[in-house]
Amino acid sequence: MFSRSTGVKPERGGAEVAPLPPNRLIFLSELIIITDMDLKQEPVITISDVSFDYRSGDSVSRGVSSVGLTIMRGEFVVLLGRNGSGKSTLAKLLNGFLLPDRGSIEVLGINTADDDKIFELRSKVGMVFQNPDNQMVASIIEDDLAFGPENLGVPADEIRRRVDRALEIVGMTEYALRTPNKLSGGQKQRVAIAAVLAMEPEILILDESTAMLDPKGRGEVLETIRRLNREEGITVILITHYMDETTEADRIVVMDDGRILQMGVPHQIFSDRALIERAGLELPVATKAAHLLREKGLKIPAVLTDEELAEAVCRLS
Ligand SMILES: Nc1ncnc2c1ncn2[C@@H]1O[C@H](COP(=O)(O)OP(=O)(O)OP(=O)(O)O)[C@@H](O)[C@H]1O
Ligand SMILES: [Mg+2]
Repeated sequence: MFSRSTGVKPERGGAEVAPLPPNRLIFLSELIIITDMDLKQEPVITISDVSFDYRSGDSVSRGVSSVGLTIMRGEFVVLLGRNGSGKSTLAKLLNGFLLPDRGSIEVLGINTADDDKIFELRSKVGMVFQNPDNQMVASIIEDDLAFGPENLGVPADEIRRRVDRALEIVGMTEYALRTPNKLSGGQKQRVAIAAVLAMEPEILILDESTAMLDPKGRGEVLETIRRLNREEGITVILITHYMDETTEADRIVVMDDGRILQMGVPHQIFSDRALIERAGLELPVATKAAHLLREKGLKIPAVLTDEELAEAVCRLS
């Protein structure tokens, strides 16, 4: 599933060799090795100087303005920014829900303004939103997952394979024949992700998909997303207001007033106090705790996660 041309699952930072039939001479050129670096050198999204305004009657409100951004295959990108900064608008522009007023967006070689390719585009760019209840269409979970591929005209035996695989990936196999309304919030959101996965997308966009969940549900969903990115090589764009969900991102893009204010790796972003303040962001809890400890005179380095903080504290004694 989620097959790329080689069918090899990449591992973050590692390399894997394509399986070869037994009893065959192997030529060196046949060995295909995919590394994290290879994956992250192919652009899958190119946003070129894009602006979009919402218009209704005489009123115009800025959605995004002069946004330029390239996202590579296999990247885990987090979009941050205060309310109204343009994150959801950008997400909707990426799968053609909205079209740029100015500039252009190319996703997997498809211009989002190309009417003829809009279904292809939407099947390759899966979106998961905040409320899982609004994303379910059927009363039995496996029917819900089959709905998207059925609409794409996927043959029945292939749908069966995709549904089983998607449920397995999100850890919900045993719930296949149950009804979604008895599930917890985290389980529902995992089913919503599975429904998107059954379309075999290459890019997954999650717009505050953990916002309505309790900490356990958030943890489950986030772990699922990370696994999809690491093990299936799916490019992930995650929009969130929870800073603790951003610490493992390859890149954070900070938006403000419809524009990109800054981008960089999490350590870069969260060590820039002026940026954090200007963009109205919080710091991850561990980063904040480390600041407080430093103010008390302890020699604690900049950290992002609870684990890093615990290690830094242990090294003090
Ligand atoms: N349907 C709409 N009609 C008019 N203006 C809109 C609409 N949707 C968004 N906007 C405006 O576009 C701007 C960007 O909004 P957007 O929803 O993209 O921000 P956001 O970063 O996703 O915010 P939040 O964190 O609250 O979800 C805001 O000024 C918002 O008021
Ligand atoms: Mg939003």
